[in-house]
Amino acid sequence: MGDRWYQEAVVYCLDIDTFEDSDGDGVGDIRGLIGRLDYLARLGVTCIWLNPIHPSPNKDDGYDATDFYNVDPRLGTLGDFAELLHQAGNRGIRVIIDLVVNHTSDQHPWFQSARSSPDSPYRDWYVWVEEAPPDRHQGMVFPGEQNETWSYDRTAKAWYYHRFYKFQPDLNFSNRKVRDEIKKITSFWLQLGVSGFRIDAAPFIIELTEPGNPDSPKDFEFLTELRQHVQWRRADAVLLAEANVEPDQLPVYFGDSGGSANRLHMLFDFMLNGRLMLALARQDPEPVIDALRDTPRLPAGAQWATFLRNHDEIDLSRLTAEQRNEVFAQFGPDENMHLYGRGIRRRLASMLGNDRRHIELAYALQFSLRGTPVLRYGEEIGMGEDLSLRGREAIRTPMQWSYKENAGFSSAPAEKLVRPVIDKGDFGYEKVNVTAQRRDPRSLLAWFERMIRTLREAPEIGSGTTSHIDVPMPPGVLAHRADGPTGTMAFLHNLGTEDVEVDLSTLQPEADLPIDVLTDRNYPEVGKLDSLKLAGYGYRWIRVCRSTDV
Ligand code: NOJ
Repeated sequence: MGDRWYQEAVVYCLDIDTFEDSDGDGVGDIRGLIGRLDYLARLGVTCIWLNPIHPSPNKDDGYDATDFYNVDPRLGTLGDFAELLHQAGNRGIRVIIDLVVNHTSDQHPWFQSARSSPDSPYRDWYVWVEEAPPDRHQGMVFPGEQNETWSYDRTAKAWYYHRFYKFQPDLNFSNRKVRDEIKKITSFWLQLGVSGFRIDAAPFIIELTEPGNPDSPKDFEFLTELRQHVQWRRADAVLLAEANVEPDQLPVYFGDSGGSANRLHMLFDFMLNGRLMLALARQDPEPVIDALRDTPRLPAGAQWATFLRNHDEIDLSRLTAEQRNEVFAQFGPDENMHLYGRGIRRRLASMLGNDRRHIELAYALQFSLRGTPVLRYGEEIGMGEDLSLRGREAIRTPMQWSYKENAGFSSAPAEKLVRPVIDKGDFGYEKVNVTAQRRDPRSLLAWFERMIRTLREAPEIGSGTTSHIDVPMPPGVLAHRADGPTGTMAFLHNLGTEDVEVDLSTLQPEADLPIDVLTDRNYPEVGKLDSLKLAGYGYRWIRVCRSTDV
C-alpha cells in the first residue's frame, strides 16, 4: 500500500443487517460480519464501508439516526464493534462508516427537545420558520415518496426543513454548536479505530438553508474545518463523500490549497456511473470517453471512487431525458424497475440479463478506470433484486451464502427475516450463492478474486493518471491507459458483441515485453501490440512497461 492507502484500496460496501445473522433473530449483526471477514480478506477487499450502524427507527434503512454515539442494539454492542475493528485490522482490512449528519431521525432526543419548546437548548439545532415557506414543494430528493421539504410540526407550532423524508429533520449547520457536535462524533469513532467516513448528502450538509430560496448558499469552509479536525485526530483518516452534483461544481468539494486537496479526499463519481450505464446500454464507449475528458483535473491527494451499484437506485439524473430512456429501455424495461423517475432499482447481473461475459466486462471496466473501486455486497456472486419489495429495498436483500434455508443468512423462521431472501428464479439462492461459487474455479466469485488480486499488480489504476488512448478503434472498443511511477498499463474493453482486432502499435515505442495480466480468455501472446484479438465483450489488461525506479 502506498502512503495514501485509499488510492489503492478496494472498498466493499455492506449493510450489517442483511449480511450475516449470528444469533438467529433474523437480523444480520456485527458478530456475523466478524465471522465473514476471512471471506472478505480472500476476496481481496481492503476497506469495508458500513451503511449506517446507529440506533434508528429504520424508516430509511438507518439513514435516520437517534444516537450518533452508539450502535443499533439489533446489530450488537459497541464492544462488538471494537472487536470488529480489531479483527478487520488483523486481516489488513480498514473500516469506514456512514456519517449521516445532514439530518437526524425525528425521534432523536435533540429533535424531540427542539420541537417541545422555543426555549429548548436544541431548538436552534434544526431549521425552523413560523410561516409556510413558498418553496416548500421544491427540492424533494424522493419525489413520489415525499411531498414537501418543509413540514409543519404541531408541537413546535412551526415549520421545519427536511431535504429528505419528513421524518429526517435537517440539522442547522449555521449553528456553531451543531458543527462542533459533528466533529465530536467523528472524534469518537476515529478514537474507536475507524479509518474514516462516507459522508452522506454532503451538498445538503453545507447548505445554509434560507426559506424561499431554493438555491441557498453553501458553506464549503465547514468541509475544510472537518478535514483539519479529522486529520488531527487520525492522520490517515479519509472522507469519502456523496455529492451528486454537476462535475464543474465538484472541485470545490475537494478544495485546493497549494495544489493539494484540503477538503474531501474522495468523491463518488456519479457522472461516470451514469455514463458507464449509457455506454453499456449502447455498446458504445463514447459516453465513457466523454466522461474521461470532461472530469475536472484533481488536486494532489484527491481521488474518485468508482462504482456500478450501491445501496440506492442507479441515478441517471445527470443524463439527458433521451439518454435516460435509452438506458431504461435496455436495462429497466418495466415501469416497476424505475424509481423517482430518474433511476433503476436493479442489481447489475440482472440488468445485464445474467450474461456472465457482459458482467465481467462491466466490472473489469469499472475496476480499470481511474479511482478507487467500490463494490456492493452480493455483486461478486451476481445477486439479483426482488421487485416485489418497496422502492430501494428491492436491492437490499440478504446476502446469499449457501443452499441452506434462508440462503445461510439466518437460522430464524423466514417471516422473522429483516428482509426476505431471494428464493425463486435464476437469482434464487439455490442457484446463486457463495458456497457453490467458492467450489468452482470458473465462478464469478473466483473471477472477482482474480481480478481484485490483479489490481495489486496494477497500482497505476489507483495512484496514476488515466487517459483515453485516442487512436482509431473498432466500434464498441474502449482503449485507455494508466501511467504512474510504477509503469504503464493499457486496457482494452469491447462493449460490443463482435470479435475484433485492435491496433495499439502507437504504444510500441514505450513497450518493454508487454504482457496480458487479465483477460476474458486465452489470447495469443501480446507480441507487437498490433493486431490484438479481442472477443465480443472481451477485455485485456496489458502491462506495457514496468519502471524499476520505484
Ligand atoms: C443518501 C443515501 O445514500 C440514501 O440511502 C439516503 O436515503 C439519503 N442519503 C438520506 O440520508
